Amino acid sequence: MNEGEDWVYSETVKDHFLHPRNFLMGDEKKFKCDAVGIVGNPICGDQMKMFIKVKNGKIEDLRWKTYGCASAIASTSALSELAKGKTLDDALKISAKDIDDFLGNLPRHKFHCSILGHDALKEAINNYRKNS
Ligand code: FES
Repeated sequence: MNEGEDWVYSETVKDHFLHPRNFLMGDEKKFKCDAVGIVGNPICGDQMKMFIKVKNGKIEDLRWKTYGCASAIASTSALSELAKGKTLDDALKISAKDIDDFLGNLPRHKFHCSILGHDALKEAINNYRKNS
């Protein structure tokens, strides 16, 4: 591989970074959700918060916010599109590779950023199950 290649973001990554889907703007209390998951990335210290609404065992809607980088924002935007409408079990099966495929490949050294939203979603689903 050419050394510069790994620095290139796909058009899909750029689109999801610049126009993140399901991003929570403003007051989080205004998004009435059933559970929240909060995680930090031990590699870089960034945080992710995921809010889910559940209906009939499916993710009816979700929002997220983060201190993460551009790759984390694009990855979580993609994850939010992939997870909406899925059963909780199917949402848990979404892998970092699924997110990477959806985005058209993240640069290898940014792959860990895709795990942040993924872990926050898992945490939100676990919290939902604990409390329902
Ligand atoms: S470098 Fe921390 S989330 Fe990407």
